[in-house]
Amino acid sequence: MVTLRYFGHAVFEIVGGGATLLVDPFLTGNIHTRVAPDDFGKVDYIFITHGHGDHIGDAVPIAKRTGATVVANAEISHYLGKQGVQCHSMHIGGSYAFPFGRVKLTIAHHGSDITEGDDLIPGGNPCGFLFDFDGVKIYHAGDTGLTMDMQLLAKEKVTVALLPIGGNYVMDMEDAARAVEFIQPKIVVPMHYDTFPTIAADPEKFATLVGGKVSVRIMKPGETLELA
Ligand code: NI
Ligand code: MN
Repeated sequence: MVTLRYFGHAVFEIVGGGATLLVDPFLTGNIHTRVAPDDFGKVDYIFITHGHGDHIGDAVPIAKRTGATVVANAEISHYLGKQGVQCHSMHIGGSYAFPFGRVKLTIAHHGSDITEGDDLIPGGNPCGFLFDFDGVKIYHAGDTGLTMDMQLLAKEKVTVALLPIGGNYVMDMEDAARAVEFIQPKIVVPMHYDTFPTIAADPEKFATLVGGKVSVRIMKPGETLELA
């Protein structure tokens, strides 16, 4: 059993393979959830798709308190490592067999710089993650525009694709629906919308655009999806 819990924006908790994972733990300032960084008990790994504040989020305090290992690209790993966080660095196209399952970093077309005061620190290339829990596959696209590379995922037989639909910084609903055609997942969960005025989107309209070819699960913040 693999479970997927949503906290709004791009924030997910995945429990599978005996481990608890957080992806992009943006809780402080996330209007979709009242869950606080301290509310997580056991966290084994924190996956960060890119350096923006709404994705690194509360990774540092959660990692320090729980002892979780942060998995991110080499640049973000270096940055967080200097803050006393244990990191596992990876890069695009690379995969690694963690104790809970295999994870591959996928291409995302976006930025990744880290804001620190008035400065921007280079955060390497943004990414998505393909998690494989013994055949149950979760693709978290990260922040990205539509990419032709998403077609490569069709062969992976993705169980659930977590796709941004909010536009402006990422795919809009129309492009996300095209991404669904490329990826051909069993289930698609829309994410990264309605957090800021610039990324307002109607997930029901997205479901209409997908058009019944793939099951669209509009997850409410706090909701859990159980995957066989
Ligand atoms: Ni971003
Ligand atoms: Mn974002």
